[in-house]
Amino acid sequence: MKNLIDQLYLEHILSKDDILFLLNNLTKIEDVDYLHKKARDASQIYYDDNVYMRGLIEFTNYCKNDCLYCGIRHSNKFASRYRLSELEILECCEEGSRLGYKTFVLQGGEDPYYNDDRILSMIKLIKESYPDNAITLSFGEKSYESYKKYYDAGVDRYLLRHETYSKSLYENLHPNMSFENRIECLKNLKTIGYQVGAGFMVGLPGQTNEDFVEDLFFLKELSPHMVGIGPFIPQKDTPLANKEKGTLEKTCILLSIIRLMLPKVLLPATTALGSINPKGRELGLKSGANVVMPNLSPVNVRDKYALYDGKICTGDEAAHCRQCIEKRIESAGFKVDMSRGDHFDRR
Ligand code: 5AD
Ligand code: FES
Repeated sequence: MKNLIDQLYLEHILSKDDILFLLNNLTKIEDVDYLHKKARDASQIYYDDNVYMRGLIEFTNYCKNDCLYCGIRHSNKFASRYRLSELEILECCEEGSRLGYKTFVLQGGEDPYYNDDRILSMIKLIKESYPDNAITLSFGEKSYESYKKYYDAGVDRYLLRHETYSKSLYENLHPNMSFENRIECLKNLKTIGYQVGAGFMVGLPGQTNEDFVEDLFFLKELSPHMVGIGPFIPQKDTPLANKEKGTLEKTCILLSIIRLMLPKVLLPATTALGSINPKGRELGLKSGANVVMPNLSPVNVRDKYALYDGKICTGDEAAHCRQCIEKRIESAGFKVDMSRGDHFDRR
């Protein structure tokens, strides 16, 4: 086991069979600890003990899609919908800037109200007020032309998880969406020049270790700048309400393997990971993650962006999260880094 981990640490690649072997057989605590330790070593080479901070603004929970796992899916009649105005978004940025954030992540459902004109106007306003900040967008699938317009307006990064690289599982979970289009979008984002984030959920109903091998090899080939992974967590008003959630252990193993395969990647310890275990984000960092994305959304809408049940931080002010997460990061042995936190190759 240790030989394989060492080989992955040195060469950043193994055969598919060997990766599957790791996923099937990493059961002994000492092996898992060794994997996490090597992943943390790999992270330190490029990023030291730094943890990069992104301020997350969840600006709309309207969504035209119907992803089976997601609490803001179109068919969820119990979701209480909101959309922030331009002014409200700017207020979030102002608070974020005051707290020291140099990256704003604008995330939302696929909301037709936010057409390209409205998105471009929002980008322009944020750029004018915060010219030194990085802007990250994350609101799903758009045409090449739309992605290009946002990029030309000054957007730096785009997050679009592939969710799963199993085409059959993808299509079962995403009615009226196409797996091919998802992958095409990621390729377009890279071609345009964005720092791109892909990623997947861990523990989806029916997901196997063979599926994870495909996720990992897809990531290796795409070579994104960021990878977001987190456990699947059921949301009570979705068709997957009664399914099992993904585990902390499996998510941390996958975080470590991703760090070893893509040593320079920016890898968040996600809110979902913090939501299934009180120490989830700290354990994610110790497994090779190096980014956290505290919430800057106004407190009165926080609990409405309910992708899954039991989401942490839904009642907390941005300033409270900023302090809380700083303490957690430091007590786990890491350093808070408030710089833009660009990918190592983009500095
Ligand atoms: N559990 C965990 N993660 C979820 N996401 C959406 N719904 C859930 C859920 N029920 C993730 C998806 C999406 C990201 C914004 O949140 O991976 O890309
Ligand atoms: Fe929000 Fe801890 S990060 S309360």
